[in-house]
Amino acid sequence: MTALLPSYVRLDGNAVTLVVATAGGIPAVLYWGPRLSDDTDPASLALLAARAEAPASPFPEVPLGLTPQAGQGWPGRPGLAAHRDGLGWASLATLTHVFSDGQRAQFEAVDALNGIKLVHDLAMEGEVLVARTTLTNIGDSVLTVESLAAPVLPLPGFAPDIIGFEGRWANEFQMTRQVRHMGNWVRENRRGRTSHDVFPGLIIAEAATTEHHGLAFGFHLGWSGNHRIAVESFNDGRGLVMMEALPLPGEIRLAPGESLTSPVLYAAVSNLGMNSLSHAFHRWLRARPEHQRLRTKPRPVNYNSWEAVYFNHAPAVLMDLGTHAAAVGAERFVLDDGWFKGRRNDRAGLGDWSVDTSVYSQGLAPLITHVESLGMEFGLWLEPEMVNPDSDLFRAHPDWVLDIPGAPQLGFRHQLVLDFGRAEVRAHIFDVIDAILSTYSIAYLKWDMNRDLSHPGGADGRAGAIAHTQGVYEVLDRLRAAHPHVEIESCASGGGRADYGILARTDRVWTSDSNDAIDRLAIQRGFSHFFPAELMGSHVGPGTCHITGRKLSMALRVATAMFGHMGMELDLRELDAADSETLAAGIALHKRQRALIHGGDLVRLDAPDGINAFGVVASDGAEALFSLTMMTEPRTSFAAPIRLAGLDTAALYALELVWPQRLGASWPMATGGRFTGAALMQAGIQLPRLWPGSAVILHLKRR
Ligand code: GLA
Repeated sequence: MTALLPSYVRLDGNAVTLVVATAGGIPAVLYWGPRLSDDTDPASLALLAARAEAPASPFPEVPLGLTPQAGQGWPGRPGLAAHRDGLGWASLATLTHVFSDGQRAQFEAVDALNGIKLVHDLAMEGEVLVARTTLTNIGDSVLTVESLAAPVLPLPGFAPDIIGFEGRWANEFQMTRQVRHMGNWVRENRRGRTSHDVFPGLIIAEAATTEHHGLAFGFHLGWSGNHRIAVESFNDGRGLVMMEALPLPGEIRLAPGESLTSPVLYAAVSNLGMNSLSHAFHRWLRARPEHQRLRTKPRPVNYNSWEAVYFNHAPAVLMDLGTHAAAVGAERFVLDDGWFKGRRNDRAGLGDWSVDTSVYSQGLAPLITHVESLGMEFGLWLEPEMVNPDSDLFRAHPDWVLDIPGAPQLGFRHQLVLDFGRAEVRAHIFDVIDAILSTYSIAYLKWDMNRDLSHPGGADGRAGAIAHTQGVYEVLDRLRAAHPHVEIESCASGGGRADYGILARTDRVWTSDSNDAIDRLAIQRGFSHFFPAELMGSHVGPGTCHITGRKLSMALRVATAMFGHMGMELDLRELDAADSETLAAGIALHKRQRALIHGGDLVRLDAPDGINAFGVVASDGAEALFSLTMMTEPRTSFAAPIRLAGLDTAALYALELVWPQRLGASWPMATGGRFTGAALMQAGIQLPRLWPGSAVILHLKRR
């Protein structure tokens, strides 16, 4: 129902409340936090927040609007920076319309003098606030936009910690925790893809917040290109989180009447710790329509050819690997890099997406037929945004790449980036992939992207990084529409493109190129804050990790991989009988528990030093799996007991050790038993003495 300029708008989830005030024509968040009772008078919140005049400060203080504006005299980073050749740079749009139906709200504000209209769309979807800002140029000249933030949310002074996620190739999603300081904490990503180093998400928490306790606010920007995320803290005690796409100079220019919408901000809040925040994000993702296709069948166990053969393709070998993969339980065979014309190493071939007949003399059909005869789906690797200078495509269209005249390209895996901002490039790539998918029986694409956009100049000489990202989205959307049954994996040298924007059109993230099971536990833990297990590609790698050189047992590699979208990526011909048997048993266990792993609530445990512990609990608490890994030797002979979490306190659970198949250590618990949820969560479980690099997995079933 529409109301003209109400003083307050309130949106509720089951456990969260948002209240926006409209005083002075500026929509500003008055409250964002755990659910308030229905009878909470918004005016009482305003009174609780009211401030007297502070020395040496403006009074009344400038409200912290959904878009802080320069025309307000806002002392911090503006949510909109735009101008007309240097003029009209300090906008002050004030409310003209407000709409709300209790689930969603829209605030429209206009600055007639400067020709600017701002619309904020906010929706409470489950427990997640989904918010975007739209700017329209209602003036009569071109408006250059330097930045447009998604709606800005305030931070209370009692939440001082910033938990960020950063990393590098083969070591993504590492968590950092810092205390907010006055001024800006800013992370900028200019790599042209979501990036390994600046994940567009963060958590703001109380100092005492843990996985299970305390207040935590989560924020994520659903955008796969350049971005800026900022936490600003003012000397008046206020603070905010601002997230936005990061345009390059002159990259966004709006003609009269044109609009620009910010990427979507996803926000959640909980006073039950960071696990609860993850549940909100996971449940929201699982509920969105784009995710439903993952529910049409269990997530197939992948076999990926990369670390087994790299570029050294031979059809007979790949068929043999397919036979081995099916024997241990694979359900999908993915042919990675190296199958297409001229691709004998990483110096040539990208762009020429036809089968290399010097290797596959009869095309891919015999391999696909073989794979399918073994009951597996077939998947294919592509890197559609890239071209090697040594390729027919580049020789025919050297002008199709992103480039800056006069500035030499950087060497980066011997490849350049095609300009997806150009319609003819998008059309060509779509046609080529469409033809492959129409020719062959292909159920899965691994869409890779292995270099930064270091020189993102478009054909018109202007910056084209945003247009590239939008172009990638468009091609993916067209492919999905044309081939709705083909699943797509998002890979960018591992986890360099993981965000809700790309995941609106893809079905899995290749989390990291590192298959080192110990490193993976930290990578997967970080990843799990925003993404559920069924989206997390997780493979059993070789006995000696190709990236870290670490030797780890098959039992540990299996235990780590089984808690994601499981797969394997190793030369199965090299396995001895014992390892083959362990791998097959681990895949079988994953399949038995797959519905729980891919549908339950993740519970990260605050375990003692040296132990990584987490579990998955069915939403009704009836069943759970817990994984406990000894990472290093404990300081004491026995590590402190591990207290489980997320269980039904009053219920009696039958506990069974389900992994490893044979436990070298003597452990009274190995034969199982019956325990109450309260005992498991309050007394905890004493682990046996285990070698570092060993994991146990416990299954609990409510009696
Ligand atoms: C990237 C991916 C790998 C693999 C190679 C192939 O590094 O992350 O998984 O596909 O490319 O070149």
